[in-house]
Amino acid sequence: MNAQLPVVGAIGELRRYVGARRAAGERIGLVPTMGALHAGHLSLVEAARRAADRVVVTVFVNPAQFGPNEDFARYPRTLAADVEKLSAVAADLVFAPPVEEIYPPGFATKVVLEGPAVAELEDRFRPTHFSGVATVVTKLLNQAQADVAVFGEKDYQQLLVIKRLARDLDIATEIVGAPTLREADGLAMSSRNVYLSREERARATALHGALKDAAQRIADGQDIGAATAEARVALAKAGFDVDYLEARHAETLAPVASRDQGPMRLLAAATLGATRLIDNIAVAS
Ligand code: PAF
Repeated sequence: MNAQLPVVGAIGELRRYVGARRAAGERIGLVPTMGALHAGHLSLVEAARRAADRVVVTVFVNPAQFGPNEDFARYPRTLAADVEKLSAVAADLVFAPPVEEIYPPGFATKVVLEGPAVAELEDRFRPTHFSGVATVVTKLLNQAQADVAVFGEKDYQQLLVIKRLARDLDIATEIVGAPTLREADGLAMSSRNVYLSREERARATALHGALKDAAQRIADGQDIGAATAEARVALAKAGFDVDYLEARHAETLAPVASRDQGPMRLLAAATLGATRLIDNIAVAS
């Protein structure tokens, strides 16, 4: 374990580190996170490590991507434990800036996208979320100047939003998606799973179960509308309040009515008790 894993909070320190490593001919990988790290995040670090010589992990709970009634205040903040975990997977630098470093007094710019950010999925329920994500990710990509940045497929709409903004804003960093890591019963790993009570945690597996069943039925030829409607009913029976569970084109997020409309992804968001969970799955073609 690397007990010396440096943690910096100033953009200038991040830039100096990256500049020195690049001057030495090394490729830089970036893994932006909001901390509260679990094995899913560590798999992103490993993916970045496969694509680069050095891995920089950012830990920043971004206020701009939380709505007024969301969990910004109670979002888990566990920097010391995060640094331990990142040491164990041999990350090279942690960038954990204070809020004023990212949003100094007078900050007045927002990145707003259309395309995948207005797909009537997460954006329908969290109308300011993707602008907050796009703004902070644009800043982090500009600050780090990495060769490659890795984001989880668990936040599938977010991944497409970030790919789009990097293309549209001519950001040279390559954006790479990495597969979702799951608990043994299929629940997608998420920092928000800690909010679930023991009883809710047992029921939470139904989210992946419903998506998996629907994806299988669609792959077997069942009508897409019928399969997704049955999945929504199954989730409601398991006690979820379903925001959406829909079939979309995997690259554009456009609604799809038949399997010959291209690669398909099922995406869902649903609340169990006070915890909102999201997940998605590819439909085999
Ligand atoms: O996926 C996350 O953890 C966040 O949305 C991100 C990409 C780090 C931006 O704050």
